[in-house]
Amino acid sequence: MKILANNLKRQYDLFAQEYEDKAIEVLRSGWYVLGQEVTEFEKEFAAYTGSKYCIGLASGLDALWIGLKAMGVHENDEVIVCANAYIACVMGITINGATPIFVEPDEYDNLDASKIEEKITPNTEAIMPVHLYGQSCDMTAIMDIAKKYNLQVIEDCAQAHGTLWQNKMCGTFGQVGCFSFYPTKGLGGFGDGGAIVTDDASIADFVRMYRNYGSKVRYQNEVVGANSRLEKCKQDYYV
Ligand SMILES: Cc1ncc(COP(=O)(O)O)c(C=O)c1O
Repeated sequence: MKILANNLKRQYDLFAQEYEDKAIEVLRSGWYVLGQEVTEFEKEFAAYTGSKYCIGLASGLDALWIGLKAMGVHENDEVIVCANAYIACVMGITINGATPIFVEPDEYDNLDASKIEEKITPNTEAIMPVHLYGQSCDMTAIMDIAKKYNLQVIEDCAQAHGTLWQNKMCGTFGQVGCFSFYPTKGLGGFGDGGAIVTDDASIADFVRMYRNYGSKVRYQNEVVGANSRLEKCKQDYYV
């Protein structure tokens, strides 16, 4: 018997009527980028994760690189990441001119916390735990190390929507939690999508501005930002 790793058509069929009703409602609304639907989703997803803020973005990759930028990670900084993480984790770091420092995985294929300290240098700025296959990294050990060395933490939860570590949602331990809504993910959309969650108002403000061409007020652009609005995928700005 052939068992598909993903069967999106089967998942679609389970709730087809609901999806189609909603799609027609959105099409007839005349509003297709950001707007009320995205704002509502951001509120619900923030509440679901137990975060103060959620900002929708165009992809999980964008969540990683824009999240790191909002944390102030830049050239010459080092970010510790699992050696077997997805390419997007590495690109999130290198797009900002920073250097990924690889740590071998543990028996669960996640960042091995016992091997982090030997990789810390004066240039280390952040740790990026990537919660692979729906399983959490050891966030108690990782947060202890971050505290000890005064490092920031950005969690990649692209494969860990709703994953708990000791009853606390993954994505809420560090400064920023990054999510992907690519169709095959735990919470998949009809197309690309992503988000960050954070409790830090200044990070939330920066990401909200940055995703929209660096603009809070129409036609006033404070920084050279990106077009990374949820429901939109335009990926030529970081190459
Ligand atoms: C662990 C991990 N991080 C980041 C990403 C990037 O997400 P996206 O494809 O939405 O850019 C993915 C999935 O593709 C992933 O599995």
